[in-house]
Amino acid sequence: MLAGAATGRSHRSRAGKAKLTELLERTRLLLRLPDSYRIGLVPASDTGAVEAALWSLLGGRGVDCLAWDGFGRSWQRDIVDELRISDVRCLSADYGALPDLTEVDFDRDVVFVWNGTTSGVKLPDGDWIADARTGLTVCDATSAVYSVDLPWPKLDVTTFSWQKVLGGEAQHGMIVLSPRAVRRLEEYTPPWPIPKVLRLKSKGRVNEDIFSGGATNTPSLLCVEDYLDALRWAEMAGGQPALMQRCAQNFAALAAWVERTSWIDFLATLPATRSTTSVCLKITAPWFTEQPAPKRWELVHNLCSLLEAEGVAFDIAAYRDAPPGLRIWCGATVERTDLVAMLPWLEWGYRVLQTTAIEIKK
Ligand SMILES: Cc1ncc(COP(=O)(O)O)c(C=O)c1O
Repeated sequence: MLAGAATGRSHRSRAGKAKLTELLERTRLLLRLPDSYRIGLVPASDTGAVEAALWSLLGGRGVDCLAWDGFGRSWQRDIVDELRISDVRCLSADYGALPDLTEVDFDRDVVFVWNGTTSGVKLPDGDWIADARTGLTVCDATSAVYSVDLPWPKLDVTTFSWQKVLGGEAQHGMIVLSPRAVRRLEEYTPPWPIPKVLRLKSKGRVNEDIFSGGATNTPSLLCVEDYLDALRWAEMAGGQPALMQRCAQNFAALAAWVERTSWIDFLATLPATRSTTSVCLKITAPWFTEQPAPKRWELVHNLCSLLEAEGVAFDIAAYRDAPPGLRIWCGATVERTDLVAMLPWLEWGYRVLQTTAIEIKK
């Protein structure tokens, strides 16, 4: 896989630039991006891409900032506490739910995460986004992209990273700009200074370098090669429709188990909002729910340690800001048969936990 990698070369060399251009073009094809949309590579993974958008584009009008998981809330905090935009409406929901989408005003800029990775709640569609809008939509789609058919005409800025649905090595962020976002970038300059790593503009115009195989600073050509490998695998697997199907089949296998298992349920209450990649589950058995939160976390971590020690499952505890529970990745790189093979182990781990808890109580 690494035989043709441009490692050790400058990313500005002909070989390096060819790799970055190939990466942008393959991503564009796989995502079926409209020709008029720009796609570019930025530093600092998805966080870098989101921050570049927030710092470069916001501030000229009010912002509606939606949040229903830890990442949405972190963008809210940045917009309110760091950028200190005064006219911000935070439309939030607890873990498991979506905020009231009918309240969103599309004459304001609207910031949201498509798939709340830490709550397992996704947007069911983009129908709630107005076609006729004067504000921009800024969508952090990092755990949705490639697993959801994103409605590009509804999205002005979309960001993601390589390590989620495609399982590439983490490193750089991707940013997709609609023509309206490019216009905003060129016509508007925020009142705050923008650090170089977050800057999308050069001499008053969109920085074409970022969107044509250049980069703000030196990218890892090793990670680039890994992402190219992931893209080729995705093409061979059948492109985005096949990736979506793989996620849906993984989710269906897990959902069937949840359905027949009395002690577990989805954190996402409405079926249409259940993420097919980042599946968040809560333990509903009374002996568990009646414990205080620190104890429930301890139990979850004990369960995860049991499975990890057996080499069965890794990193399946819920995100630290979410309610204590499990988060099982069902992205396209996961084999359904592996997922199914894990389920009896989960049952076993749960029984061990339950028995120990009951004995301690005695
Ligand atoms: C919705 C969402 N936004 C942002 C991030 C942060 O991504 P990165 O680590 O690529 O910066 C994550 C990571 O899981 C995420 O799921």
